[in-house]
Amino acid sequence: MTSVLADFEPLVFEPRAESPLSALQEEVLALKKERNAVILAHNYQIDEIQRIADYVGDSLGLAYQAAETNADVIVFCGVHFMAETAKIINPSKRVLLPDVDAGCSLADGCPAEKLAAYKEQHPDTAVVAYINCSAAVKALSDVICTSGNAIKIIEKIPKDKDILFVPDQNLGRWVSKKTGRTMQLWPGSCYIHVLFSTKSLEKLRMQFPDAPIIAHPECPEAVLDMADTVCSTEKMVSYCKQSEAERFIIVTETGLIHRLRREVPGKTFIAGPTEHCACNECRFMKMNTLEKLRDSLKNMSPEITLPEDVRAKAEIPLQRMLEWSK
Ligand code: 13P
Ligand code: SF4
Repeated sequence: MTSVLADFEPLVFEPRAESPLSALQEEVLALKKERNAVILAHNYQIDEIQRIADYVGDSLGLAYQAAETNADVIVFCGVHFMAETAKIINPSKRVLLPDVDAGCSLADGCPAEKLAAYKEQHPDTAVVAYINCSAAVKALSDVICTSGNAIKIIEKIPKDKDILFVPDQNLGRWVSKKTGRTMQLWPGSCYIHVLFSTKSLEKLRMQFPDAPIIAHPECPEAVLDMADTVCSTEKMVSYCKQSEAERFIIVTETGLIHRLRREVPGKTFIAGPTEHCACNECRFMKMNTLEKLRDSLKNMSPEITLPEDVRAKAEIPLQRMLEWSK
């Protein structure tokens, strides 16, 4: 990692060699084997966890992995709604989340009671829920989507149907523009993606004019308008692999850059800055540590449990998403 320029110092991640695994990482791998567990990790997890996970990906890829695994135990290195998603699809498996307090501002911004009240007032409206929501909200929804399939999912909804999109207004607005569908947008947002601004990115664009700006659809509209491409974290990886560019400005949580450095060797990644900081980390995603991962496998806790009525109701829109996005 090197700093560039005096008055503004972007975080530039240059190609590097992989270091050997630590004793703690080896211990986690041994426990994983003993428990017949699978470790699923989101792209925003710390590098030490990503390196020993069986699968690292975006919310859509992780949902498919959770649906397909034969392991007895799923250790979910991500946030609460992701582990819940794995449990919804796998009621008979044990699902562990190394830090049970790893939440999400988007999920918190849409309480199930408020959505239930809206539905009472608008019984004919289809509710499309971004996967970043609680199991109780999923249970009230018609179909789930992720940033990787939101356009596809909206396009499957009959044209004459009114749609409420919850809980991310930025993703909802972007999908609405892309599909031409008018939708009611729930006023929720991701507390870190809203910190990216045109002002914070303008300087970088001047410093690295050859580097495409790749933004996540949870970013504000003005940022999405200035980006060269807008996509889920998984598609960011494939974009960087396929692109002829040598360096990229990554406008999402900085953890994705660990995966990019491993899977797109030889290229350089510049962290999208906020107006106050050269990087942008989700405090919830960073709550999982290697120690907590080891302890969760040792103690088989914290474990995700759900009331069966909520789980069963939430599974319907989730399976619909998996079916529709094939
Ligand atoms: P994806 O990795 O599915 O694009 O989602 C980003 C995110 O913010 C997850 O919390
Ligand atoms: Fe939630 Fe944003 Fe953190 Fe993702 S990055 S878990 S959307 S708060």
